[in-house]
Amino acid sequence: MASKKEPVVVTGLGALDKPAGDLITWVDQRFPLMENWKAHLSEYYAPKNFNFWYIFGSLAMLVLVIQIVTGIFLVMHYKPDAAKAFESVEYIMREVPWGWLVRYMHSTGASMFFVVIYLHMFRGLLYGSYRKPRELIWIFGVLIFLTLMGEAFFGYLLPWGQMSYWGAQVIVNLFAAIPIIGPDLSVWIRGDYVVSDATLNRFFSFHVIALPLVILGLVSAHILALHEVGSNNPDGIEIKENKDEKGIPRDGIPFHPFYTVHDIFVVVIFLMVFSLIVFFAPEMGGYFLEYNNFIPADPLKTPLHIAPVWYFTPYYSILRAMVWPFFWIDAKVWGVAAMGASTLIFFFLPWLDRSPVKSIRYRPALHKYIYALFVVCFLILGYLGTLPPTDGRTLVSQICTLLYFAFFLGMPWWSRMGQFKPVPARVTM
Ligand code: HEM
Repeated sequence: MASKKEPVVVTGLGALDKPAGDLITWVDQRFPLMENWKAHLSEYYAPKNFNFWYIFGSLAMLVLVIQIVTGIFLVMHYKPDAAKAFESVEYIMREVPWGWLVRYMHSTGASMFFVVIYLHMFRGLLYGSYRKPRELIWIFGVLIFLTLMGEAFFGYLLPWGQMSYWGAQVIVNLFAAIPIIGPDLSVWIRGDYVVSDATLNRFFSFHVIALPLVILGLVSAHILALHEVGSNNPDGIEIKENKDEKGIPRDGIPFHPFYTVHDIFVVVIFLMVFSLIVFFAPEMGGYFLEYNNFIPADPLKTPLHIAPVWYFTPYYSILRAMVWPFFWIDAKVWGVAAMGASTLIFFFLPWLDRSPVKSIRYRPALHKYIYALFVVCFLILGYLGTLPPTDGRTLVSQICTLLYFAFFLGMPWWSRMGQFKPVPARVTM
């Protein structure tokens, strides 16, 4: 029976010889290959004024792939057993051919993931990419961010070093602070009264299968939502509102080949930086791999100073900033609540921002100062979270915590204040 499907005109792949063209037609009659290629690449029209800030989405995808591939090879040699885990990591580092490289790529990848994601999120803030009609892209993004934090936390227990062990102990104990259900909840999470083999097994399971699946699903939803409404851009102009007679946005260019080639170039530069870290500074002065984690876990010996990895430290500072009990509720409960709120508040950004324009380019100078203050506070909180607390440091982190929340909660007011610049009709280059 003859197929009803017409042969497809192959665009964006260059001149194909007959066998390759025939193969694509064959596949296309059975699977929407070219339809998807067109919808998401060769006929996905992205604004022509993308700048440096628009690379981090592609880099996040690259790091995700690096983490999955290196993770698969690590699991071949790693033993999720409290008696063997630390040794199995040492075995990977010393005995497995290229094991050191795979492990350092994975540990560096974890930190680089957060570098890339923080910059990606900051771009959203700069250009108002979370505003209508992109609220769902942002919400899927925040869900990815939270899942990624879980993924990193579970992964950090696996080497079963002192920091793995005590870091997990501290964080799981936080759940015990939740009124009424807390103590039982923390035992339920650990599967034991202390962090033990049972904890290691469940964290392993979540780290290697459950959360990666969730992240992959969320990233697909994130991209689908993006391609439904189209990308924002540094001017915050909706390019779909100005189309030519063929229905193509006048300020759009096909993602492939323009941005694919551009992204490959930046990927090469990123991989150079990545390699420099992997080969010359994989511990990054104790920030990427903490020195205490080269000592096997010892449940009887608490390290003098326990600090999470750098990407968690801003929230850890917020937790520690809460030192007074209010309304007869323990300070620790407020700390946990403030830490939770400091990450969940990102969900509400699309509705907190009431500025009449999206992009920072057309906002008053006041907004730029407020953004700068927010970034400085976030960095100070991050730095203080790596240090043992003193009275002075606690006071600074309290001030920064206050400003952090004021940034979000005051947004409905300050985002409308000041003199806005007129937004041009077409994107600027
Ligand atoms: C594994 C993690 C992630 C991956 C692989 C990813 C991937 C991407 C890609 C490829 C794009 C399009 C290119 C670009 O605009 O940079 C994008 C856009 C976007 N992402 Fe993500 N993303 C991730 C996490 C996040 C997070 C955590 C957030 C925010 C909380 C977020 C918010 C956004 C927004 C708002 C856009 C639209 C930007 C615009 O059009 O201006 N993403 N993402």
